[in-house]
Amino acid sequence: MKLFVDTGNIKEIAPLAALGILDGATTNPSLMAKEGGDPRAIIKSICDLVQGPVSAEVVATDADGMIREGRDLAAIDPHVVVKVPFTKAGVAACRTLAAEGTRVNVTLIFSAAQAWLAAKVGAAYVSPFVGRLDDIGATGMNLIQEIVDLFGHAGYETEVLVASVRNPIHVIEAGRMGAGVVTCPPSVIEQLFKHPLTDSGLERFLKDWEQAQGAKKA
Ligand code: G3P
Repeated sequence: MKLFVDTGNIKEIAPLAALGILDGATTNPSLMAKEGGDPRAIIKSICDLVQGPVSAEVVATDADGMIREGRDLAAIDPHVVVKVPFTKAGVAACRTLAAEGTRVNVTLIFSAAQAWLAAKVGAAYVSPFVGRLDDIGATGMNLIQEIVDLFGHAGYETEVLVASVRNPIHVIEAGRMGAGVVTCPPSVIEQLFKHPLTDSGLERFLKDWEQAQGAKKA
């Protein structure tokens, strides 16, 4: 399973990219709105850092506008994946952009039916939002299982990009279910590193070692 980082913040992305754990990145208008500066320059910097697929989202709501914006975003860097919302206009734009050879990530997916329609028009990725489903009392991960099963049977090449991830359980479940990609906020990636037994275990190793060195000298 590939790991993408879900942020538009270069300072958060750089150290993760340097660790070699990132396969790509995703942004959305809410995330980009938090960053100052030129959005195109930020997307370009993210592409340079991650050297993998970077989703940049359109804000137009009509198909022609999405296609225009999508072409413009795709011209920033070959790593750019154009993100469009799942609407009828988004489906139409996906079809046109995909036919031109642009990779499209169809976002705001909340049902397997929506994922299926996006796959039919050549989406490279679908982004089901698990956390937002959990927030309304549904089980977001059930949707991931449904889409993975559906795509597996139908043989679609569209990758399931698990989004709106809130914790490491979402990440591991996504991998076990066979999702191709998970996109995590940096805070969740931080959590993936953590285990209290690793911290206490290391502390004990170092203490034992120091004690032994002291005993040798005495
Ligand atoms: O990038 C889309 C998605 O990951 C947003 O997550 O936390 O705003 O539901 P969230």
